[in-house]
Amino acid sequence: MATINKQRVPKHIAIIMDGNGRWAKKQSKLRIFGHHGGVKAVRDTVEGAAELGVKYLTLYAFSTENWNRPQKEVNALMELLVNTIVKETETLEKNKIRLQVIGNLNSLPKNCLDKLQLSINTTKDNHQMTLVLALSYSAKWEIIEATKKIAKEVRDNNLSIEEIDEHLFSSSLSTHNIPDPELLIRSSGEYRISNFLLWQIAYSELYFTDVLWPDFRKENLKLAIIDYQKRERRFGKTSEQIESEHA
Ligand code: IPE
Ligand code: IPE
Ligand code: MG
Repeated sequence: MATINKQRVPKHIAIIMDGNGRWAKKQSKLRIFGHHGGVKAVRDTVEGAAELGVKYLTLYAFSTENWNRPQKEVNALMELLVNTIVKETETLEKNKIRLQVIGNLNSLPKNCLDKLQLSINTTKDNHQMTLVLALSYSAKWEIIEATKKIAKEVRDNNLSIEEIDEHLFSSSLSTHNIPDPELLIRSSGEYRISNFLLWQIAYSELYFTDVLWPDFRKENLKLAIIDYQKRERRFGKTSEQIESEHA
């Protein structure tokens, strides 16, 4: 079996953790059972990523659109989230992992936000890896927020229209302190982005697996990285150009 080239591990991996509900249904259980199963997968994947030297791991945990799920599921998910954060903060500390959150945090229940804030503060000086949770997140929301921020700067004469470029736009997003992901993984056999990191994945490598999220483990992460390492990232150039750059 191919092994990972430790020199070429992506600095930032983003994951759309999908398939919890179907995993539960397969076992004739309630959907929330699948979300509980998903926590195990998160724990193993976070550990695996940190061991491999990944610097940023972004996990799509709850989308803006997920608020439209049955209220019972939303409540159960929020409760699970709070409990998991409280339980896992010690492990994050131990493994020197910093927690960061992106998304429309104002829409989260206060109790959830308070616990998150506590964990963010506790882990803020950790440098092994940054774990970014996308919560109540949608890329279109994020892009609109950035646009509003820039428009206000122009209105207040702090910025000219000519100064608006790719760099300025990137630095107005909630991911301003995070490099774009080299690799985006989606589990559960769905081939779509579901409003995740639209701007940031402009040149990411995409990897889809049929594995349902609760079954995802560090071995699956390794398979994704091995696949990524076989690809040639051309960024619009020709293969010959890339080869001569590496020669
Ligand atoms: C992903 O699993 C978790 C969240 C979106 C919160 P799903 O709950 O979407 O599971 P499926 O897609 O219904 O199987
Ligand atoms: C995407 O999964 C959101 C998260 C993984 C948090 P969904 O299950 O909500 O996506 P769609 O609706 O099937 O595209
Ligand atoms: Mg889903």
